Formats: sequence, structure tokens, C-alpha cells
Amino acid sequence: MAPKKLYIKTYGCQMNVYDSERMAEALPGYERTEDAAEADMVLLNTCHIREKAAEKVYSDLGRLRPLKDAKPDLKIGVAGCVAQAEGEEILTRMPLVDLVVGPQSYHRLPAMERAVQTGARAVDTEFPEEDKFEKLAARPKAKRGPTAFLTVQEGCDKFCAFCVVPYTRGAEVSRPAERIEAEARGLVEAGVREVTLLGQNVNAWHGEAGGLAALVRRLAAIDGLERIRYTTSHPNDMDEALIAAHGDEAKLMPYLHLPVQSGSDRVLKAMNRKHTAEDYLRLVERIRTARPDILLTSDFIVGFPGETDAEFEETLSLVREVGYGSAFSFKYSPRPGTPAAERKGQVAPEVMDERLSRLQALLTEGQRAAQEAMVGKVTHVLFEKPGRMPGQMIGKSDHLFAVHAEAPQELAGQIRPVRITASAPNSLAGALVA
Ligand code: 5AD
Ligand code: SF4
Repeated sequence: MAPKKLYIKTYGCQMNVYDSERMAEALPGYERTEDAAEADMVLLNTCHIREKAAEKVYSDLGRLRPLKDAKPDLKIGVAGCVAQAEGEEILTRMPLVDLVVGPQSYHRLPAMERAVQTGARAVDTEFPEEDKFEKLAARPKAKRGPTAFLTVQEGCDKFCAFCVVPYTRGAEVSRPAERIEAEARGLVEAGVREVTLLGQNVNAWHGEAGGLAALVRRLAAIDGLERIRYTTSHPNDMDEALIAAHGDEAKLMPYLHLPVQSGSDRVLKAMNRKHTAEDYLRLVERIRTARPDILLTSDFIVGFPGETDAEFEETLSLVREVGYGSAFSFKYSPRPGTPAAERKGQVAPEVMDERLSRLQALLTEGQRAAQEAMVGKVTHVLFEKPGRMPGQMIGKSDHLFAVHAEAPQELAGQIRPVRITASAPNSLAGALVA
């Protein structure tokens, strides 16, 4: 029988990108399609972090109505964090949805799929005892591109006052080191040269003694695995061993996403971040002592309840002091069930807009400066795919800049030294070093 077609739309973070791959692999008898119109099943792998992301899911579901009318056998599923947060309610609000599966339950998808084929509607948003990764079939051996995500940790125990993650993804769970190593070895056999270890709080990974630094060193011993990155980290979990690994583990790339959220001590406290701006700056100093050329990135929230103009200015000062290579900034969005959503002093939308645009202008300036500082330097590029111009290849540098250079297609999957010749808004241009 010809395989059925599965269309997955992924919202939100890299952990969802990884989960989408694993869900597709978990569903026997399906192959992925990029065209929702030819799909037998559509899965929306959703994000609940901000209201906009969550509401988009409902408007996208509405847009699937004509597809389902034209093809009544089409099955529609909602996965990910909106599924976890809203569960059954999704079925009530959206009668066209057949299946709702939370991020901790997707190993149960095959059974749910069989149920919906009989006309039932299926919901599973439990936090089961069993480890979903261990219940999933081994990953396919098929050849794949040179970079991959690998989830090593899920959940969060930090309870930042604005964040739904501790509720949607649950408590922190670390996958065991041997299983992660086995998956990494499989990825390398399939052609992967760079893995990004993923976790909501990845540097809190504690699957073996020595924490994430020990895991990085274990994976660095795999022949053929050339580069390791990890994301996302909380400042309070950057331990000495991990900082040291940035200094002496050549396969650990000089790039670190270390969200600070705000530069104001009062706001940080209200956010329950459990560190001050000064703590963060001292940490950055220690990391840069270990690895002077490390590129730092961050997340920021503007307009957290009660944030004053002066407190927002403190965020701008921190940005100037750190000098980020790039960063994400968001307007505060009240999330159901989180402590901050109930607080007084919600900031007016036009004030948030103004703060966001000032912060983004400053961050863009920082990104431009970081890129321009690369011009004239030699960096290493892992080539991934042909560029838009004939004869060109695109890849990522050690610092995760997109770089294009004239290069033969055979270089896909290989790392080469490249001299950077120019900086464009979101990428660099370079020439292979002979
Ligand atoms: N409103 C705005 N941004 C948020 N983030 C998390 N929760 C919220 C919220 N309620 C941002 C944080 C986090 C990133 C993934 O999303 O900056 O680091
Ligand atoms: Fe959310 Fe804070 Fe946990 Fe990050 S550390 S996932 S922002 S609660």
C-alpha cells in the first residue's frame, strides 16, 4: 500500500523541530509532505509561550476547514504545548480536530492514530511515568544533512513568573548519557557533523556526574562528530566545569545563548530569575576569560508588569555592556496560570511597542558590529547546501553566522577555512582559503 502523507507544521522553539521529526518517525505508514493539500494527516506542533503564537494555531486550524470539507478522511491533530495547556478544550472549540497530543505523550501517537482512523477523537495530555524517548522506535539510518538537534533534557523547575514552560513541559527530566551518546553516534553515521543539544534548561542536565560539561566531553570523543552546541541555558546553571569546557574543548563551539530577560534588579527579582544584573555580568566575564571570542546571545522581555522607563533603560545599559552577537526580544504576554499574569501594573501596549523598537534597534546595531568584526578574519564553515547564486555554497561559521562562499557542491557536510570578505544584514560572504 502506498504510504499515507503526513504534513507537520512546527511552531516555536527548536525542541518542537526535534519533536516534529520524532513524531513523523513514530507514525508507521506515513511519509512527510510539504503540501498540506495532499496530506492524509495534518499535525500542528504548537507553541504556547506567548499569546500570539497560541492564537495563530486557532486561525491556522480555521484555514484547514476547506481541506477537510474536500477530503473528509483527512485527520487533523494538535500536538505540542497548546495541546498540553488546553487539552479537551481544543476539541470543543475546534470540531474539525481529531487528535490532541501533549509533548510528553507522542510515543502514544501510533495507537491514537489507529483510534482516529475508526472515527474516534483522541486526547492524551498526561505526563506519563514512562520515558517517551525509550518507547520510540530507533531513529532511521537514512542519510541526512550535516546538522541535527538532539533533545537531552526537557522541562523546567525554575518557574520564572512570566513563563508557561514549567506547566506545559513539566518538571526537569534528563535523558541518560548512554542513550544520548547512542543517538549521537547514529546521527554521525547518517552524515551529521554538528549536533545542538536541546533542553528548556539544557545546562541543568544531570544525566551523569559532571553535568552537561561531562556530556559534552563524552560526545566530543565521537569520531566524525565535529561540532557541539547547546541551547537554552539559565545563567544560574552555568557551572565552572561547563565554563572550563568552553576554554579547552575544541569541538564545543564559541557560541552561547544565555537569556537574561532584563537588566533591572527589581524586574529580575519580580521575574523570579534569582540573580542580579551584576551576577550576570560577572558570569559573562568568566565565560569570556575562558573563551575570549565567544559570541553571546540572549532573550529579553520588555514591559514586564511594573517595568518603569528607568528599569527599561537598565536593560539597554546591560545590552551595551555585554555586546551581544544577536538576541531575541519580546513584548511581555500574560500567560494563563502564571504568577505575573495576575499582577498589577500591566504596561500599556504603546509603551511596550516603543520599548521593543528601541531595544531591537540597539540589538540590530550589536549584530551588525559583531558581523563586521568578522570581515578580514578566517573562520571555519560547515557547508550545508547550495546558495542562491550558481557555484555558491552556504554554511554556518563557528559563531553560527550564515556564510556564503564560492565552493563546489561536494563540500556539503565538510568544514573548511573561509576568509570573510563582506557583511550583509543577516549573513556573511567569504572566500575559501586555499
Ligand atoms: N511573554 C513574553 N515573552 C516570553 N518568553 C517566555 N515567556 C514569555 C511571556 N509570557 C520569552 C523569554 C524566553 C523566550 C523563550 O520567550 O524571553 O527566554
Ligand atoms: Fe521559562 Fe524561566 Fe524555565 Fe526558561 S528558565 S523555560 S524562561 S521558567
